[in-house]
Amino acid sequence: MLKKIKVEDVAPGMYIQELCGSWMEHPFWRTRFLLDDPKDLETLRNSSIREVWINTAKGRDLEGAREAVMEAEREADVQASLEAAATVERHQEPVSTAEELERAVTICRKSRQAMTSIFGEARMGRAVDTELARKVVEEITDSVTRNSRALVSLTRLKNADDYTYMHSVAVCALMVALGRELGLEEVELMAAGEAGLMHDIGKAAMPLEVLNKPGKLTDEEFAVMKRHPSEGHRILQAADEALHPITLDVCLHHHEKMDGSGYPEGLTDEQISLFAKMGAVCDVYDAITSNRPYKAGWDPGESIRKMAEWADGHFDPKVFQAFVKSLGIYPVGSLVRMASGRIGVVVDQSDGTLLKPVVKIFYSTSSGCRIPPKIVDLSAPHHQEAIAGREDPAAWPFPDLDELWSGLPVGAW
Ligand SMILES: [Fe+2]
Ligand SMILES: [Fe+2]
Repeated sequence: MLKKIKVEDVAPGMYIQELCGSWMEHPFWRTRFLLDDPKDLETLRNSSIREVWINTAKGRDLEGAREAVMEAEREADVQASLEAAATVERHQEPVSTAEELERAVTICRKSRQAMTSIFGEARMGRAVDTELARKVVEEITDSVTRNSRALVSLTRLKNADDYTYMHSVAVCALMVALGRELGLEEVELMAAGEAGLMHDIGKAAMPLEVLNKPGKLTDEEFAVMKRHPSEGHRILQAADEALHPITLDVCLHHHEKMDGSGYPEGLTDEQISLFAKMGAVCDVYDAITSNRPYKAGWDPGESIRKMAEWADGHFDPKVFQAFVKSLGIYPVGSLVRMASGRIGVVVDQSDGTLLKPVVKIFYSTSSGCRIPPKIVDLSAPHHQEAIAGREDPAAWPFPDLDELWSGLPVGAW
């Protein structure tokens, strides 16, 4: 029996079936759980959530005379909230990168918690919570629609421990940004996002010592890791509700290459779907730009350049071109040298040309010193500054580079 009750009436031992209100305001990443920790109850009471659905078959019932809405009415309530969700505008109005970055910090945190939970459950052999995955995808899609640069730039900043979870979030955001560039419809866009989020779920079936091994894998270990697409496909087929067919396809085929040298099936060009081709590009970009226990991530601009070199045979050229268009030739966070000899970091793209982003200039090579940071839009008319080339961040003493472009303090992400 499901009952809708007020948060004041929630007691330890109750099974929370659903929290009413926006997922972003939920204090938990789980959508349904047994409330057995008094701390969770306190967290719930201190949140903005006012009502919850409890499942009395799985936990304690409501005692006392307070009124509760019964199951039959829940249907009507769910229907009403679905209609409200469809009519209430999702927050998709365009905003600046700086503004979206602030919101993206929360989205990253909540998505990381959700993915930690989804991977943890899968590792224990439990079904994937598709509703939770869908909520994550919706938040990410809305963020990328408001601003295509903020979340994809922020998700690059992951640390070694949360790589698998944040990689899923990053590939989701990159898939949505790329899908928008390719002109996909909303439904396909959400499917592309879901595919990005779930593409590596098969890693939950990999032995931890292989998955988390610092350094190069042996041939044997690599053979084990190569099973993650088919293991993932199996896990997704057993999800609690059917996932989009695109999600299953991308999960199984994101390591296929155009020339047939990929795995698990060695498919070639026309045999690989558009979505799996998108998955391949987004997956590689995030993997090479991320910090790993055995190597620091590459600069975003340098990664785009390297990928262009490998593109032949690996990626679909049209998909790769759209990817570069969605991120820029110098994506946000790229270190660049100006023709004037000054050094800056890309903070945003401009509407005009891919070669003229917005740069925060902060270092003078002629004096060898930091200079007061100045933001310059290279696409502005009559501008004299131009990018002379990329710079390798490893060759420079700029430990605060990520704070410089994001405007966020250390540890905010
Ligand atoms: Fe993978
Ligand atoms: Fe991946």
